[in-house]
Amino acid sequence: MRLGIVIMAAGKGTRLKSKRAKVLHEIGGRPLVQHVIVSAAQVVPPQDILVIVGHQADAVQAAVRDTGVRFALQQEQHGTGHAIQTAEPGTRDYDELIVLSGDVPLLRPETIAALRDFHLQEQAAMTILTAETANPFGYGRVLRKSPGALEVDAIVEQKALQHDQENLHEINSGIYAFRRDALFKYIGQLNADNLHKELYLTDMAAILHNAHERVLAIKAAQPEEVLGANTIAEMMKLDRELRMATADRLMAGGVTILMPETVMIDATVEVGPDTVIEPFAQLLGKTRVGSDCRIRSYSVLENTLVGDHVHILQSCVIEDALIDKGARVGPFAHLRPGCHIGEDAHIGNFVEAKKTSLGKGSKANHLTYLGDADIGSGVNIGAGTITCNYDGVSKYKTVIGDKVFIGSDSALVAPIVIGEGAYIGAGSTITHDVPADALAIARGQQVIKEGWAKNRRAQREARKPQSTGKNQ
Ligand code: UD1
Ligand code: CA
Repeated sequence: MRLGIVIMAAGKGTRLKSKRAKVLHEIGGRPLVQHVIVSAAQVVPPQDILVIVGHQADAVQAAVRDTGVRFALQQEQHGTGHAIQTAEPGTRDYDELIVLSGDVPLLRPETIAALRDFHLQEQAAMTILTAETANPFGYGRVLRKSPGALEVDAIVEQKALQHDQENLHEINSGIYAFRRDALFKYIGQLNADNLHKELYLTDMAAILHNAHERVLAIKAAQPEEVLGANTIAEMMKLDRELRMATADRLMAGGVTILMPETVMIDATVEVGPDTVIEPFAQLLGKTRVGSDCRIRSYSVLENTLVGDHVHILQSCVIEDALIDKGARVGPFAHLRPGCHIGEDAHIGNFVEAKKTSLGKGSKANHLTYLGDADIGSGVNIGAGTITCNYDGVSKYKTVIGDKVFIGSDSALVAPIVIGEGAYIGAGSTITHDVPADALAIARGQQVIKEGWAKNRRAQREARKPQSTGKNQ
């Protein structure tokens, strides 16, 4: 038996009222369709997954191309039945097909596998994955032959429900298994005789039933996992579910998350045990945090690798960085892409860094800009230091050797090399390389004029008009 999976992802998502195709909207930090692909790829290899694209096809393909799936193009979108018609040529290698919806993102691989096993065991032509929900509004409803029967007579869309069918609570999830030859033998019978003038894949239930093929339904173990996302509000409900599930997974692994409903952690993030995450922190993308760390409130880490025992203080913005063990960052630090903060190094208040490495134990504690800088270990960068890396045309590097001391308010005009162990006097504008162990001072000489202020006060007193008292 050869099994393929087809994912319908060509629709526009009119109900979202968004310029962006629905399946590209993100929940838990990933596009909807990518969630579906990730689940599907745990059941069959990616080359056996065919994604049907149409609306904004290029953008959808670009978003998921690196997963290794195949694509079919549904040039115009005339409904879910029409979408599956376009999958006919691309699925000829398979005996059985599982059809998933690109906008049902919480579906677990276990549930896909359960649908497959039931469908094969029962030798059905079509098996519909369903769920019992308290609020079925908007979903198609599944009409079983009789209550509790495995067999299904038809699926009825919300807008076509008869009055007495509205209290049916078993919904169609939009997820199915088909015996491929039965599906394509009868799919030509679909017609657009409905409200939207579309070909509904759901009508295959009645068509196959009438052709005396076996049409069955199986309920998902967890109704929440088949919830669809047709509006932004529905999506954000799923987003919350997914992020809570991620927080629960991390807490189960020994991470403390204070007020977990306030943090925003993408499904892709990993955190080690005994790390504490404070309220309103955000951990995004491929971020990995070690153990025994503290991520304080309002800090946002994206695609960042953090070693053990690291302390990220409040309100830091950190992207594409590598932070080694024992380091301390913040509060109010901004690490732009390409920074490497060494072991036990400190990045302090109001420090901005970009493409900069700071060696082991080095400190830039206050009010500093470090751009394109390669800084050794044991270095002290004084408050207000600026690496002048840009001349209006190009960017240049600043290289600072081990154990250098940069006095406060220094400007280092790149390209420049400060040799190991050198000292830079506070307030210097350094434009030439400084040899190792030297002192460089580049600022105006201090001039002392003894008694100058006292004399000035005396002169002012002398110039004041003498008061007669008459005008007072
Ligand atoms: C569909 C089902 C409904 C079910 C619900 C579950 C139909 C007619 N109805 O309704 O019974 O309860 O899913 O979530 O199928 N798509 C295409 N090409 C198209 C149209 C849609 O690829 O021409 C894709 C969409 O991108 C989407 C999926 O198919 O990922 C489902 O389409 P959607 O319009 O959201 O169907 P629903 O109205 O939710
Ligand atoms: Ca839908």
